[in-house]
Amino acid sequence: MQYSEKVMDHFMNPRNVGEIENADGVGMVGNAKCGDIMKMYLKIEDDVITDCKFKTFGCGAAIATSSMATELIKGKTVKEALELTNSAVVEALEGLPAVKVHCSVLAEEAVKSALADYYHKIGRPVDFEIEKDHDEE
Ligand code: FES
Repeated sequence: MQYSEKVMDHFMNPRNVGEIENADGVGMVGNAKCGDIMKMYLKIEDDVITDCKFKTFGCGAAIATSSMATELIKGKTVKEALELTNSAVVEALEGLPAVKVHCSVLAEEAVKSALADYYHKIGRPVDFEIEKDHDEE
C-alpha cells in the first residue's frame, strides 16, 4: 500500500493531538467495522474555531486524516468547518489508498459531532446530519 509523503508526515508527526479542557464542543465517533475511535475537541469564540485538538485510537490513516482535519478547520468559522468533507481532507493529504478512504470519513464526522455538541451547548438547533457508523467507503 502506497501512502503519500503528506500522509506519512501527519501520521508520524500528528498536529494538534490532545484534549482541550472546557472545550466548547466535544465529539466522538467510531467506525463499527474496524472499531477505531476518534475524539475531537473544539474551542469556539464568536463562532470561530480558535483551537482544536484530537485523540484517535485508530489506524495510521485515521490519525493522519484527523491531524489534517484539525489543521483545515482551525481559524475557520463554524459554518466553514461544517462544509469540510472527507474528500477535502483526502485531497489535502494528496490522496489515500482506496481501502483507507473510509478512515477519512471518521475525521469529517468527528468534526461534525463536536460542532453538534457546540450547537447543543449554545441552544442552537442542529440542522446537519452526522452518521456515526459507516459501513463502507
Ligand atoms: Fe479504522 Fe482506518 S482502519 S479508521
